[in-house]
Amino acid sequence: MTAVLSRAPPTDAPAQHFEVRPFDAPVGAEIVGLDIAEPINAADFQRIHRAHLEHHVLVFRDQRITPAQHIDFSRRFGPLEIHVLHQFQLKDHPEILIVSNIKENGEPIGLGDAGVYWHSDISYKPKPSLGSLLHAQELPSEGGDTLFADQHLAWEALSPELQQCILPLKAEHSYLAKYEELRAKNPWRPKLSQAQIDQVAPAVQPVVRTHPQTGRKALFVSEHFTTRIVGLPPGESDALLAELFAHSVKPEFVYRHAWAPHDLVFWDNRSLMHLAAGTPDHLRRRLNRTTVVGDTPF
Ligand code: OGA
Ligand code: MN
Repeated sequence: MTAVLSRAPPTDAPAQHFEVRPFDAPVGAEIVGLDIAEPINAADFQRIHRAHLEHHVLVFRDQRITPAQHIDFSRRFGPLEIHVLHQFQLKDHPEILIVSNIKENGEPIGLGDAGVYWHSDISYKPKPSLGSLLHAQELPSEGGDTLFADQHLAWEALSPELQQCILPLKAEHSYLAKYEELRAKNPWRPKLSQAQIDQVAPAVQPVVRTHPQTGRKALFVSEHFTTRIVGLPPGESDALLAELFAHSVKPEFVYRHAWAPHDLVFWDNRSLMHLAAGTPDHLRRRLNRTTVVGDTPF
């Protein structure tokens, strides 16, 4: 008999016994007891999906998965983005972006300064990311945390006056906004080819977006990618963005993730912004990322 490889969800697989444990934090929950290397049936997948919509960032503990298993699990949430920095694709797996500060023979093996500014992944494209899945491969003995800020809470905490004022606004997002500044600090960052520049033309997004699955509103501007509010004079645009950036990442909206070996962290880019807290240069850190493509924000 010929073996058939199918990506269809294994609806008839046995149930797995796992727990969803919310963190003592404004957002996030850990999933304990699930094995992503084993089949996940439709009912279990529904539980995971619902937990993701409720908690916005899920930490799947102790996942001994291969890159192919990481990709297959990610695909159950939607098609995967191929990142513009193709230099840092995992060999034979273009769906995986290597996030790492490691240099081999003087060459970076991955994106070493991913997330040094608050952002939502791929907000600079017309269809930003639904969510990203980051899998720990090698962790530093200190530092290397990732912070997540809940942009639903950030929206809800604004005054009704400010909410009304920003609700109709749109803003431009650009991948190139901070690229040269980052390249000046980190000369290993590749110089972009014209083809890469063409892939990341600026996109215009609502300043406040509605989550397509929960209907909740969320702030959707970031210090990394948002360049200006469309239609405002530059001074007013800068002042409003500075106010929103500062507000959106207040400690009361933030969960700080301290990585444990084999953690797989899946966050919702429609609900959260995230930030890499930083790793001391002499310590090695490496993670594999898949990025699920989302919808046009509204
Ligand atoms: C990312 C990212 C932050 C980190 O991979 O999208 O922003 O802590 N990473 O590595
Ligand atoms: Mn990111």
